[in-house]
Amino acid sequence: MKKSVILAGTLMVLGAFAASAQGVPATPAAAIEERTSIMSGVGDATRTGVRMAREQAPFDLDAARDVLRTYASAAERMPLLFPPGSETGGDTSAAPTIWSDRAGFERRFADWGAAAAGAVDGVSDLDKFRAAFGPLADGCSSCHGEYRVRRN
Ligand code: HEC
Repeated sequence: MKKSVILAGTLMVLGAFAASAQGVPATPAAAIEERTSIMSGVGDATRTGVRMAREQAPFDLDAARDVLRTYASAAERMPLLFPPGSETGGDTSAAPTIWSDRAGFERRFADWGAAAAGAVDGVSDLDKFRAAFGPLADGCSSCHGEYRVRRN
């Protein structure tokens, strides 16, 4: 009896581990931590992009493509990081609309990520980077306006 309880517990832990290996965080807290950290990476990438777009930093093709790739991989990962139970807690600024309008939220990330991924090869110079980067950067506030709240 006791042994089977321990075994069941072990299997649950293994199950949680397998889920995280496939990419779904094992706990709501882990999901919040990962999504806020991905988004702050998006924030850092955006600062790099803004400096190049405004010619406050020299245009660097690899760096420009990295900005777009950071957006594309964030967009792929983010929709997996809002499991039930992660509506509040930690440093999250996620809005309840993520859970009430999940399809809209996921579509928003899919469209934004596809635009970023689709632009990677084409950004061969500063003008082309600006043309791709501008609308992607506008996407930040339009998504945040609907799906993010300031908690402080
Ligand atoms: C499709 C929706 C969506 C798009 C597009 C988007 N974000 Fe976010 N962002 C979110 C959500 C949702 C959160 C809140 C995550 C949380 O706190 O759990 C967030 C949080 C953030 C945060 C706070 C991270 C932290 O440390 O708590 C930053 C910074 C950020 N986003 C930057 C950006 C920038 C810059 C862009 C555009 C280049 C962008 N985001 C595009 C949905 C989006």
